[in-house]
Amino acid sequence: ALLPLLHLAQREQGWVSPEAQEWLAERLDLTPAMVMGVTTFYTMYNQAPVGKYLLQLCRTLSCNLRGSEDIRAHLMKSLSIEPGGTSTDGRFTLVEVECLGACGTAPAMMINDDYHENLTPARVDEILGTLA
Ligand code: FES
Repeated sequence: ALLPLLHLAQREQGWVSPEAQEWLAERLDLTPAMVMGVTTFYTMYNQAPVGKYLLQLCRTLSCNLRGSEDIRAHLMKSLSIEPGGTSTDGRFTLVEVECLGACGTAPAMMINDDYHENLTPARVDEILGTLA
């Protein structure tokens, strides 16, 4: 029951706060350490607040061979952020992740729950331009 509840907590807050972890531990009769252990094991759970748009750029082999480093450099320059960082306006957080399961259409990135594939710097600009 913990994994879906962590998803719900994250969907509500954008991350899984220590308070949310403690609340879940009490409700599920688990220790706070057990909940923290699960929360920190899976990279899909955010350990800190993130921007309105969470950009998860794949850096694994297929994406790397097809230009993910250029996409990362483009995102860093255009959003003025480093991987792991959030833009000053709080709109974008950029993280590098391992394979998103879209190797055949690399390079790939998720923005919140949506996949974006066959990325180029120009396509990234188009996509970011559609975000409110
Ligand atoms: Fe990037 Fe699989 S290597 S989606």
